[in-house]
Amino acid sequence: MSKKIMLSGVQPSGDLHIGNYLGAIRNWARYQEEYASFFFIAYYHAITEIKDPQLMREATCHVAADVLACGVDPEKCTFFVQSHARTSLELCWVLSCVTSMGDLERMTQYKDKARQLNIPVNAGLFLYPVLQAADILAFKTHVVPVGDDQCQHLELAREIVRRFNTAYGETFPEPQQLLSEVPRLLGLDGDSKMSKSKGNTISLIDDPESIKAKLKPAKTDVHRQRRSDPGDPSQCNVYTIHQGFSDPATCAQVDRDCRAAAIGCIDCKMMLADKLAATLAPIRERSRELRRHPDQLREILRQGSARATLTAETTMNEVRDKLGLFHP
Ligand code: ADP
Ligand code: TRP
Repeated sequence: MSKKIMLSGVQPSGDLHIGNYLGAIRNWARYQEEYASFFFIAYYHAITEIKDPQLMREATCHVAADVLACGVDPEKCTFFVQSHARTSLELCWVLSCVTSMGDLERMTQYKDKARQLNIPVNAGLFLYPVLQAADILAFKTHVVPVGDDQCQHLELAREIVRRFNTAYGETFPEPQQLLSEVPRLLGLDGDSKMSKSKGNTISLIDDPESIKAKLKPAKTDVHRQRRSDPGDPSQCNVYTIHQGFSDPATCAQVDRDCRAAAIGCIDCKMMLADKLAATLAPIRERSRELRRHPDQLREILRQGSARATLTAETTMNEVRDKLGLFHP
């Protein structure tokens, strides 16, 4: 029986952080052989916000290095950059013709960004979820490993599938999100999602000293004001990070000691800092090594893009047939 298809993407908008890792990238590496897997750098999504070409070039290499350093293996999956495998751009147009404005206007990511950005909202930001659906459908994807901030986009992708299949006949499967044990990690400020653009991250290439320095002021359970107050780990973002990186016995111990005020937040943070530093060390070293060879990274992405294009174009030819278009 042939394998089901898994696909996911990440924007080249800065160094990957532990939220990306726990929410998505760790699952990419974990399941890359169980599924026929496609992972890519979502260049065209990033330019809806980033207008700095030098930053885009650098971030594309850095994100590629980070993804590979996390164990995504170009021998076991297809790893490419969206701007080299352009079929999804054409499919995006086709899908935009079966997508309702109302559905796009309801997207919370679009609404949040439209509110936060101090630049006028561009049409790309509005169409962003349609391009995401095109990325997914171009490979007839079944499973999409992402953080929970992407669930609404996945829901829309399923709606687009139903509309396309109803209009033109059964063509695409409905893609399902694959969530991890930590589908949403808050930033160190404790206020919002950890995000590359918010400066509230621990990045995968942070060294042990910066991990400690960043964890020290990190928000914990706000009700634990004094060392002697018992804490509630279920209300503590630092504990969530423990759950992502520490073994179950350590988590159980931290849970007990925090509730009994037997340890303070700083004790808990320093245990976590040691664990994080040890887990991230091999990723950091490997990413730094890969970043020293941008030509090799580009070659990996080029080969992946050629493979991705073959698959996506097969789908696109089927779509062209259904629409009544000639093949190019
Ligand atoms: P960012 O928001 O940091 O720019 P991306 O939008 O490129 O990151 O997201 C890449 C992947 O990481 C997506 O699957 C996204 O859902 C996931 N992700 C991003 N931030 C988090 C987080 N704080 N917790 C869990 N998953 C996350
Ligand atoms: N919007 C996703 C994010 O910000 C990136 C992305 C683009 C993506 N296309 C996709 C994720 C297709 C999964 C599938 O994280």
